[in-house]
Amino acid sequence: MRFVKLSLAILLLVAFAAIKSPVSAQGGKGLTIGFSQVGSESAWRTAFTNATKAEAEARGINLLFSDGQQKQENQIAALRSFIAQGVDAIILAPVVETGWDEVLQEAKDNEIPVVIVDRNVSADPSLYVTRVSSDFVHEGRLAAAWLVQATAGKCNIVELQGTVGSSAALDRQKGFNEVIALFSEMKIVLSQSGDFTRTGGKEVMESFLKSMDPKEICAVWAHNDDMLIGAIQAMKEAGIDPGQDIKTISVDAIPDIFKAMMDGDANATVELSPNMGGPAFDAVVAYLAGETLPKWIPVAGGIYFPDTAAEEYAKRSK
Ligand code: AHR
Repeated sequence: MRFVKLSLAILLLVAFAAIKSPVSAQGGKGLTIGFSQVGSESAWRTAFTNATKAEAEARGINLLFSDGQQKQENQIAALRSFIAQGVDAIILAPVVETGWDEVLQEAKDNEIPVVIVDRNVSADPSLYVTRVSSDFVHEGRLAAAWLVQATAGKCNIVELQGTVGSSAALDRQKGFNEVIALFSEMKIVLSQSGDFTRTGGKEVMESFLKSMDPKEICAVWAHNDDMLIGAIQAMKEAGIDPGQDIKTISVDAIPDIFKAMMDGDANATVELSPNMGGPAFDAVVAYLAGETLPKWIPVAGGIYFPDTAAEEYAKRSK
């Protein structure tokens, strides 16, 4: 039975690899597109912003960029400003899942198509064209499947959650918990939000290390690499050897996590591609050309370990 469960968990590691984007259109030259970004809370977010701006420039798209500073009210104000300016389309990377219906309805009433990128919204799908994103539930499952096999199915886990109410945090948690629920000795012993930031991860890990005997902690599961990097610092300051005394698993695959792997401080990361701008622009172009799009355009990612860290760091830190 244990073997069956483990095989099931490992199968999840490969299940997502075959998914490909169904959108093939290119271009967008001359379009004005408003892009409401969550903020700049993590290195992944900054990479996503930079890649989207570069993609717009290469295509000759006039991109109106707004940094929401992790506040939904700022993002709603940005959307209303894009609508007032009569943009050709809006790209929204929403900070949280709920509370978008009204402003999305306003965009629809003004015949401005909206493409959701990265995190999800709970709004009626008729209010937006499509969503370009990874499968966060799958990311959580992948992280858990790796941890199960790395600890032979026995581990006390501390969890650093992402931003409260964000689909990235909710769905990663869901996927992870689904898999560990299959193993009676895999347990989340402490869990708190570090808001996807390095300082948040460090502070929460410090409090975890004070609230229980660190020798009882087998692994840190962080919803992103930045929080884990903060937690690594906290462990080192407490005389703990991260990656050895306490195993680590996180999400994003940013250059600094590969550096941490090279230093022996991190064990594994699940990749979240920052290259969602291209497929989002493709979706806008296809929609404006009259194509009907699926409601979800998936972006795939892999899982990485120390054996390829030097190579990945060299590629990604350019
Ligand atoms: O929504 C994706 C998450 O947001 C990334 O994993 C995290 O780094 C970012 O803040």
